[in-house]
Amino acid sequence: MTNSFIVAGLFASFAAAYPSLAIEKRDTVNPFINPSPGWSPSQLIDVSGEHAFVAPGSTDLRGPCPGLNALANHGYLPHNGVATITQFVQATNAVYGMGIDLATFLAAFGAVYDGDGTSWSIGGPPTAAQIGGLSGLLGQSYGISGSHNKYESDASPTRGDLYQYGDDYKLVMSQWKEMYALQEGVADADVDYTIDIMMAYRAKRFDEQVASNPYFFSGPFTGVLVAPAAFTFINRFFSNKTQERPEGVLNREVLKSFFAISGSDSDPVYTPGWERIPENWYRRNHDDDYTIPGLNFDTLNIIAKYPQTASVGGNTGTVNTFTGVDPAMLTGGVFDSSTLLQGNNLFCFAYQNAVQAQPDAGLALVTKFASELASLSSELSCPTLSKIDSSQFSQFPGYTSLKAGTSGSSGAHY
Ligand code: HEM
Ligand SMILES: *[C@@H]1O[C@H](CO)[C@@H](O)[C@H](O)[C@H]1NC(C)=O
Repeated sequence: MTNSFIVAGLFASFAAAYPSLAIEKRDTVNPFINPSPGWSPSQLIDVSGEHAFVAPGSTDLRGPCPGLNALANHGYLPHNGVATITQFVQATNAVYGMGIDLATFLAAFGAVYDGDGTSWSIGGPPTAAQIGGLSGLLGQSYGISGSHNKYESDASPTRGDLYQYGDDYKLVMSQWKEMYALQEGVADADVDYTIDIMMAYRAKRFDEQVASNPYFFSGPFTGVLVAPAAFTFINRFFSNKTQERPEGVLNREVLKSFFAISGSDSDPVYTPGWERIPENWYRRNHDDDYTIPGLNFDTLNIIAKYPQTASVGGNTGTVNTFTGVDPAMLTGGVFDSSTLLQGNNLFCFAYQNAVQAQPDAGLALVTKFASELASLSSELSCPTLSKIDSSQFSQFPGYTSLKAGTSGSSGAHY
């Protein structure tokens, strides 16, 4: 007996998947983003001297995250692509204005699930020398490139799905072109890849995956939290903050630079791993760091406009068979369709699922992760989730083939 609801077809309404999901009418202005953060020349990011761009060498690790690849290329993270939680938190805060809460969460999660509990690789598995001879808690799982469905997700802005493209960390040119074209025809001076444009693109990619990827799987952590973040980060972090537009403006050249794209509009060239912080580029003002509540609110805004993107579930082996899993069934009723979208619950749901549901995380890891984040959880007043019923996912081949041992990486790095 299954309590999931079959959604047939790309344009099936979300109401069919979650009959009573309470989507509030809401004020869409994000109260966690400062509307006038101010601006100062000190927001300029140094890309000279020790922070000049140095392309990755053959043993340097680069992976699915353009933000982190760029940090390593500019010496804000170790150039080899392996760093500690502390280094990730400091670098993402200093260079991009990622909130300490969000950076700590993301970095700690990487260390526990894709690293040795302290450090991890931004690409594939490092050599023993690169991690100082330490042996990882998870054996060979050392990098976010090898973390499909643990960290790495389907329906990414430019990265391909593992089961469609055979790797999950390289840019897929057709997806890049689709994103780039979102400002097609707009005069250079007026181009801005705004947060609204990125939110709409999130929904478009979700719908495309339903219609094209038999293995599409949108998990409670990867699909609900990581996937939308990848879209909001593009605008929130990569945009250039200026005196006139302190909230930032994202033009074509800056977008290309952060995505390692060169060449002309009609003939773009992707050089894997060459993500670059542009010259004369200004980060977020630290009075306006992008925090967990900020990301949570942006994600709820996406859901309010595009409710299908909140769905946990997947295609069942052929396209257009997206089947949603009821959050109440998954969490023993702790989260349900009437409360999921209130307050910080969506974030709590995603993060507690990550803690509870990792297919291959041992108890020690779960305990370590939970204690590192206990203070965060109480700060957000998350309800306590004691178990999650991941048997709900057995109908999704995008989930079960991962459990059967297909990892996202064969040690490849670039
Ligand atoms: C410690 C902090 C971070 C971690 C652990 C992290 C991890 C990841 C992972 C695992 C992905 C792949 C997700 C997917 O498959 O879609 C990803 C994608 C992405 N990340 Fe990060 N990231 C971090 C910080 C940042 C920052 C600071 C930025 C921006 C400045 C950023 C921008 C992006 C973007 C734009 C993508 C989507 C790539 C694409 O598909 O086109 N990330 N990140
Ligand atoms: C960022 O904005 C400033 C101020 O308008 C401008 O001088 C600078 O060239 C811009 N940077 C990039 C990389 O476009």
